[in-house]
Amino acid sequence: MKKLGSAVELEQLRKKIASQRDPKRTCIVTSVGTCGLARGAAGVAQAISAELKKDGLNGSVDLRTTGCHGFCEIEPVVVIYPKRIVYQHVTPADVPEIISETVSKGKIITRLLYTNPATGRKIVREQTIPFYGKQYRLLTDSIRFIDPHNIEDYIALGGYSALCKVLFDMHPEEVLDEISRSGLRGRGGAGFPTFRKWESARNAPSYDGIRYVICNADEGDPGAYMDRSLLEGNPHSVIEGMIIGAYTMGSHHGYVYVRNEYPLAVENLRIALDQARQYGLLGRNILGSNFDFDIKISRGGGAFICGESTALMASLEGRIGEPRPKHIHTALKGLYGRPTNLNNVETWANVPLIINRGAKWYTTIGTEGSKGTKIFSLVGKINNTGLVEVPMGITLREMVYDIGGGIRGGKKFKAVQTGGPSGGCIPESLIDLPIDFDRLAESGSMMGSGGMIVMDEGTCMVDMARYFVKFLTEESCGKCVPCREGLDRMLDILTDITEGRGKKEDIELLEELGDVIKEASLCGLGGTAPNPVLSTIRYFRDEYEAHITDRRCPAGVCKALITFTVDAVNCTGCRVCARECPQGAISGEKKEIHFIDQGKCIKCGLCRDLCKFDAVLVS
Ligand SMILES: Cc1cc2nc3c(=O)[nH]c(=O)nc-3n(C[C@H](O)[C@H](O)[C@H](O)COP(=O)(O)O)c2cc1C
Ligand code: SF4
Ligand code: SF4
Ligand code: SF4
Ligand code: FES
Repeated sequence: MKKLGSAVELEQLRKKIASQRDPKRTCIVTSVGTCGLARGAAGVAQAISAELKKDGLNGSVDLRTTGCHGFCEIEPVVVIYPKRIVYQHVTPADVPEIISETVSKGKIITRLLYTNPATGRKIVREQTIPFYGKQYRLLTDSIRFIDPHNIEDYIALGGYSALCKVLFDMHPEEVLDEISRSGLRGRGGAGFPTFRKWESARNAPSYDGIRYVICNADEGDPGAYMDRSLLEGNPHSVIEGMIIGAYTMGSHHGYVYVRNEYPLAVENLRIALDQARQYGLLGRNILGSNFDFDIKISRGGGAFICGESTALMASLEGRIGEPRPKHIHTALKGLYGRPTNLNNVETWANVPLIINRGAKWYTTIGTEGSKGTKIFSLVGKINNTGLVEVPMGITLREMVYDIGGGIRGGKKFKAVQTGGPSGGCIPESLIDLPIDFDRLAESGSMMGSGGMIVMDEGTCMVDMARYFVKFLTEESCGKCVPCREGLDRMLDILTDITEGRGKKEDIELLEELGDVIKEASLCGLGGTAPNPVLSTIRYFRDEYEAHITDRRCPAGVCKALITFTVDAVNCTGCRVCARECPQGAISGEKKEIHFIDQGKCIKCGLCRDLCKFDAVLVS
């Protein structure tokens, strides 16, 4: 490929690609993001390719492998265009039938269709699956049409046109103004206005003129994979956003800091960067504009603290990933002491969209203080888990019931945890809360980077708070006392409470400790770490009291406080529990009531899970 030397050449290439593509032609798409691969999507893609060759159809049918389509429950997914017929849980063994029936004869294979659990009806087209109904997939929808290893797929969809507009028609001040008017706020956690950071880095003095822009792809929250999916599925949208930002701030050097546990994201990004350079979209004299900018990949070891801006820059420089006090902001003195702008993956991906469609359009989406969409990883005790992109302002109820399909096993909804490990828990009474930066903060939680964990009645809120404090204790870098020692103490107290040694004064002590840790810690990890504890005390104080005063775990989770017994009325004597108990703690004759020996029982809960007659009681 000859380097593109101008905006005109890019447009000519786009037209050429369009003329070579027939939207009516059959195209079989397999989603091969990390999630799909874990469920065998690579084997499915290979089988499709082999089967087409065998049937002599490889010349008349297109194949595409893409990143994640978002609906984890139904992976591996195969979509057949132009009708967009979607098949779920596809295995290589299904492929010959897909080719001979659907591709060759247009017949639908009913058994591979998704069933709407609410109506029991089969769904043929991907876009009509209710999981996608209330979503607004501004950033993620194009992933379905892009092979991340082929830059031309991105270009075909209008890719790099925002870059052209900026390089040839806009002064950096105008770009800044557009970003300011869009109201874009950082998607990495704190929701800081993006234009302010850009403006500071642009105006900050640099003794040798060097400025850096960085993309934060550390994504350390347990259960979160929004950034990974964007980088895997549409890396060019992030690259284009970074080049626009660099032009605006007068930077020529960029980094993507990505955790090493994301090998596919690293690989797809590396290929995308190479291709962008080959096409003249990155490197020296981008599209003949005289603007130079290049991006390097820096791989992090996976420490949660390395997502924090100053720790990230220390790690990038090869030093220990520890935060520093921020009395001098990184916009003034960041990487290698130069003005530096750090944004999250999703923040960068929003930039080309805003430039292309305009700030005015962008501000029509979302709420007063939070514009645009937000990607969440919706996980936990919910029917439909997956990657969800919604307009800011959607309610928790819509997330849980309309998109998430309600609580698994018909159980009762209890709470949602948002904002990652240092976010907070929002109870059922606030289920109509609109989700945006400010409303979540008012409720004692936060947007964070977009983790959303749904909990049912079987979740113990004290145990849950203890889980997150334990995670943060392990991830604290230990540099400052309030966080290092304070979180350790919090963990001790929570452990005591969940093991039946809680004292009356513990709740107050936790609140006091939480306030001090928040106030006195050096960085945002300590500054937010008490949130899970403080928010669960705020909304679920009665559960803490039950553990402490009655030595009882209302959710039946904390092992030290529960006992398993057999209900004499419901037990049919089927012997299933007795056969499977790992301790041999259950005895009883066939068709007679069974009995649990409390001396042997280790409270693993297997008998309760296995009993089909609800005869195992937890008290
Ligand atoms: C402990 C800690 C971990 C963080 N981890 C991440 C992360 O994984 N990804 C991220 O984008 N921001 C993370 N942040 C927020 C960053 O420090 C920074 O605010 C963000 O990357 C800025 O980008 P934005 O303005 O686009 O949101 C973390 C902050 C703290 C305190
Ligand atoms: S608050 Fe915690 S993570 Fe941050 S510097 Fe202090 S010890 Fe390290
Ligand atoms: S599995 Fe349930 S019904 Fe069967 S023996 Fe055990 S307790 Fe009784
Ligand atoms: S809880 Fe576990 S150890 Fe105890 S009786 Fe049931 S299966 Fe056995
Ligand atoms: S479907 Fe992509 S991560 Fe689950």
